[in-house]
Amino acid sequence: MKYIYIVFTVFAIAFRHCITLNIVAILPFHGRSHFIVQRVYLNELLRRGHNLTVISHFPEKSPPSNYYDVSLAENSTVFENSLLYRQSYVKFLLVSFNMLKYGRESCEVLLSNQNVQQLIRQKPKYDLAIVDQFNTDCGLGLAYKFNAPIVGISANGIMPWLYERFGVPYHPAYVPFQFVGGGRHPTVLQRFERSILNTYTKFIFYFSQKLEQLKVAKYLGEVPPLEEIAKDIKLLLVYNNFVLTGSDIYPSNIISVSGYHVPEAKEVTGDLKSFIEGATHGVIYISFGSLVKTSSLPDNIVTAIIHAISAMPQRFIWKWHNKSQVLDKNKVFIADWLPQIDILAHEKTLAFFSHGGLNGAVEALHYSVPILAFPILGDQPSNAASIEESGLGVQIQGHEITNETLVAALKKILDPQFRENVTRLSRAWHDRPISALNTAIYWTEFVARHPHLNYRNRVVDIPFYQYWCLDILCIYIAIILTFVCLLKIALKMYRIKHIVQDKKHTMKRSKQE
Ligand SMILES: *[C@@H]1O[C@H](CO)[C@@H](O)[C@H](O)[C@H]1NC(C)=O
Ligand SMILES: *[C@@H]1O[C@H](CO)[C@@H](O)[C@H](O)[C@H]1NC(C)=O
Ligand SMILES: *[C@@H]1O[C@H](CO)[C@@H](O)[C@H](O)[C@H]1NC(C)=O
Ligand SMILES: *[C@@H]1O[C@H](CO)[C@@H](O)[C@H](O)[C@H]1NC(C)=O
Ligand SMILES: *[C@@H]1O[C@H](CO)[C@@H](O)[C@H](O)[C@H]1NC(C)=O
Repeated sequence: MKYIYIVFTVFAIAFRHCITLNIVAILPFHGRSHFIVQRVYLNELLRRGHNLTVISHFPEKSPPSNYYDVSLAENSTVFENSLLYRQSYVKFLLVSFNMLKYGRESCEVLLSNQNVQQLIRQKPKYDLAIVDQFNTDCGLGLAYKFNAPIVGISANGIMPWLYERFGVPYHPAYVPFQFVGGGRHPTVLQRFERSILNTYTKFIFYFSQKLEQLKVAKYLGEVPPLEEIAKDIKLLLVYNNFVLTGSDIYPSNIISVSGYHVPEAKEVTGDLKSFIEGATHGVIYISFGSLVKTSSLPDNIVTAIIHAISAMPQRFIWKWHNKSQVLDKNKVFIADWLPQIDILAHEKTLAFFSHGGLNGAVEALHYSVPILAFPILGDQPSNAASIEESGLGVQIQGHEITNETLVAALKKILDPQFRENVTRLSRAWHDRPISALNTAIYWTEFVARHPHLNYRNRVVDIPFYQYWCLDILCIYIAIILTFVCLLKIALKMYRIKHIVQDKKHTMKRSKQE
């Protein structure tokens, strides 16, 4: 018995040692919606016994013993509730510009941070570096310093400026462009729009990255071009799934892992509980997320919501800054914070009027609640298109919202048949061979198990002329030209022969005559 115990212990220690990885996670972006997703993944790595050093803006209150925070919080700017709603076309052009500007700012915050500097001086050894792939590449410079294989993570789809490094082809005819509408069925104008935006965004990113390279050189010393480090990212875990976004175009080292951030729902409590349970016709939940200042929403939207509240039999739960709004307390429950998951999971919740944020869409799909999506900024236009195309909901644009259109759109998704379709979609969403979280962890550990293999898509290395088949085109042209020349020569020879023969004939005939 004793021997068995010893063997078991030795085995356990050996085995544990074998799988325990020393991991650094570099998350320079300060948006909480991203960290909500990433935190679940990090916690699962912890739960499996890995040693984690997390560089982020969100230090844990009481981290477990194998979790080390390197906090950027001291100098991070507030991102929540800070953006203004602007309903103009220029906004769309500014989106990519601003996102990359925020990226460079968070690069500075990351690299200049005293805690990060101290970490670099310690020269730690890591088995893996997990680096957020969003709007800055400075994390890659840091990962390079740590000399660890890199796993990229993204809390949404792939940003348009990152396509090239992973060898993802962009085609305006059927690949949605995150910042504008049209989804997979763009009109000719939308295709024109996204082809321009795609070029413009790449252009901005190119210069943004050059500026970051200077920052990296200043704080980290000599580091190869960031784009080259990026091409060596082993795997990218993206937060999407084809059930919601449709068939995709990714190479094998991009793994879709969407869905794991949604927690088990708890029962709603207090006033909210009695409000929901008292709703004989069900509940419609309204929330526009945490990025945009709700007070900056235009009046037509606010009046249309107020109208819908009085005109429809359902009760409404509204995440809104103005609790003193004079409205029938029997019809609407207003609060500036609400337990979204618990509300969506409640059987009385029939619809979700949302800004089309990815996390909210995934949560609604998880609990099969139809969405009315009103995209405001960022990736919301393409999310809203996915919501509509997948059948999870319908979308409405800000300028289209009036008293009548809002009620009509809500009625459309309240249709029991629509809901039945959403339930079917939700069943497909949950139907996977391995859960999203296990998939993410599996592929993360896979990289650590095979750190010397490289999975980069060959397309990132081949020269321009080969990608566009210019050399092959030249060969085709040469073959065709040769063929045409030969044909011409043959024809000429044929003609000469004929002429000679004709002459002989006529000569013969004239002799006979
Ligand atoms: C875990 O990470 C911390 C912080 O980087 C480090 O001090 C410690 O040595 C690591 N432990 C193991 C077992 O790698
Ligand atoms: C935050 O910024 C201030 C001023 O630039 C600097 O003195 C301080 O060291 C920074 N904090 C950290 C943790 O790097
Ligand atoms: C929209 O509804 C609000 C509230 O019911 C009402 O005050 C307003 O006059 C309506 N607007 C239009 C254009 O019908
Ligand atoms: C809140 O709503 C009330 C009543 O509709 C209005 O008078 C007030 O100006 C609003 N306050 C804000 C901050 O929007
Ligand atoms: C539900 O799905 C079926 C089959 O995909 C479709 O024909 C029907 O129109 C959908 N119903 C609604 C209300 O969208």
